[in-house]
Amino acid sequence: MSALTKVNRKKVKSVCQAKKRQKIKMFDNWAKWYADFYKGEQLEDIQRKEDRQSMHRFRMFLEAISNHRKYRIVDVGCGTGYLLVRLLQLGHDAYGFDYSDNMIRQAKDFLKKSDLNAERAVCADLSFLDRFRSNSLDFVTAAGLVRYLNREEERKFYRKVRRVLKPSGRFVVTFTNELFDVWSFNRYTVDFFKRNVLTFKPIEQYVDPEKAVSRFRQLITHPEEPVVRAHSLRDKNLVILHNPLTIEKHLLSYGFEVKDKRFSLWEPMPPLLKDGDEKSYDLAHAALEMYDDHDWRGNFMAYEIFTNCKPRRQ
Ligand SMILES: C[S@@+](CC[C@H](N)C(=O)[O-])C[C@H]1O[C@@H](n2cnc3c(N)ncnc32)[C@H](O)[C@@H]1O
Repeated sequence: MSALTKVNRKKVKSVCQAKKRQKIKMFDNWAKWYADFYKGEQLEDIQRKEDRQSMHRFRMFLEAISNHRKYRIVDVGCGTGYLLVRLLQLGHDAYGFDYSDNMIRQAKDFLKKSDLNAERAVCADLSFLDRFRSNSLDFVTAAGLVRYLNREEERKFYRKVRRVLKPSGRFVVTFTNELFDVWSFNRYTVDFFKRNVLTFKPIEQYVDPEKAVSRFRQLITHPEEPVVRAHSLRDKNLVILHNPLTIEKHLLSYGFEVKDKRFSLWEPMPPLLKDGDEKSYDLAHAALEMYDDHDWRGNFMAYEIFTNCKPRRQ
């Protein structure tokens, strides 16, 4: 390896580590908010909450994990432990881990309050998966995690999951929907145009990108809304997106076959239209969430893609 490559590698590694620290700090700050959002100490309480918009996504996870048998499950990026608690309450042999200390502290609290073993929540990064034997897990779940990995971490994550899952096991995982950006009519729509249209081979050579972006921005009347938030990882380019139309191909390239694909976190209209019409927006929001999570409109109206995958036979 040349000396220059070595220096570059070192630089890339230290940038990655700095970004990782930045993300962990952010999650540490969010932990209290998450815990309050999910609050519920009794099974009945939590079940009621699953009818609430944005909690419906957990119902999808629980439906994917039938209760016919007791399974060995690991929830990756478990946050404050909502799914973990539910899985343990249902009698599964489950563990959850998360690299944010504060998230795990909240998760342990939640476990204790639910009369469950706090040791089931562990503060660790993705290398925690290396502790499990090959072909030993029935399910690996990851709700809202992959969006916070970088492409290299994502690749490593899939490799680890492939190793620990039994051939009959399932990988239940969500992604942030890239096509939602077309529906949001804001700066993310401009970015979508830059990323996916201006780099499209047949168009690229005929269009002046600077001029095209400037004119495209004029079509989007509120590109800066919602205002850039200091705590937003999205605005810091620390979030990765996935396309629901190609997600099967993407996962197949890592050895997973998608058996079910659904949508969650729907927005009935571009979110900026909510201003001034909150009530009907919220009602439509709740109705949508409970309607049909396979509906094709989810390809652009839902913020999250849910997939239930099985390892492909080698
Ligand atoms: C959006 S939160 C979701 C939490 C929980 N799964 C839920 O749906 O409520 C994402 C979580 O993933 C964790 N996370 C992100 N990258 C991680 C990594 N590389 N290793 C471990 N945890 C990670 C964060 O700390 C955060 O708590």
